[in-house]
Amino acid sequence: MTERSSRTALITGASRGLGLALARRLAGEGWSLLIDARGAEALEAARAELAKLSRVIAIPGDVTDEEHRRALERAAHEAGGLDALVNNASILGPSPQPQLLDYPLDTLEEVYRVNAIAPLALIQAVRRQLKPGARILNVTSDAGVEPYEGWGGYGSSKAALEQLSAILAAENPSLRVYWVDPGDMRTQMHQEAFPGEDISDRPLPEESVPGLLELLTGDLPGGRYEARALLRTNKG
Ligand SMILES: NC(=O)c1ccc[n+]([C@@H]2O[C@H](COP(=O)([O-])OP(=O)(O)OC[C@H]3O[C@@H](n4cnc5c(N)ncnc54)[C@H](OP(=O)(O)O)[C@@H]3O)[C@@H](O)[C@H]2O)c1
Repeated sequence: MTERSSRTALITGASRGLGLALARRLAGEGWSLLIDARGAEALEAARAELAKLSRVIAIPGDVTDEEHRRALERAAHEAGGLDALVNNASILGPSPQPQLLDYPLDTLEEVYRVNAIAPLALIQAVRRQLKPGARILNVTSDAGVEPYEGWGGYGSSKAALEQLSAILAAENPSLRVYWVDPGDMRTQMHQEAFPGEDISDRPLPEESVPGLLELLTGDLPGGRYEARALLRTNKG
């Protein structure tokens, strides 16, 4: 039986998809949660569900908004600090995704703001709320390292997040920084990436959660991981 935890995690973008799947798992193991998303209605539905399992505070807002990040920081302080910050919230950009020569630059800026700058801004905002040994988990993508055609906007934003994570780790050996590719998952974002296609063969986000849990609760060194490969490695 898993021992119930008294740990606290801040998970961004936890109203659906991978964020919600991870929140469900952590709540089931007794973690207290601080969650956000822009859509207040879906976030409240997630909060109500998770509150049956554990203590949950939901703050609707946009991670690119400084005032929202301050509200998350205050809530983290009131919760007694954080054992984990999971930067999961992300946007794809236009659907279908344009090629780079046609990519609208104002949209590219927005994609960068959400996917690369906001995660760093949130780490900066909550840095004093990170307990000793706290984990920072930045959710990236294979599109951040592979030059897939049509993935130039989202992919380069995730490449920036990968390198921000790597340098943050190098500059702060006392912080445990992980950046992790969850793999393809059957979610709203994935459907937006493949409009009109049947994505029912993609694994559900729940299949990437055990790998994330290993990073949050195990003793792996900081660095880049693939969530589902991590699970296979552990099984031997
Ligand atoms: N799905 C895949 O195949 C795949 C593959 C590789 C990597 N990833 C990564 O995995 C993570 C989770 O993706 P997913 O597929 O679960 O996406 P998803 O289903 O679209 O969920 C994204 C979550 O983030 C929230 N969000 C988006 N923008 C936000 C903002 N500016 N501020 C606050 N919350 C925001 C969304 O709620 P609101 O829209 O209401 O704000 C939602 O709760 C992302 O980092 C994604 O890049 C996904």
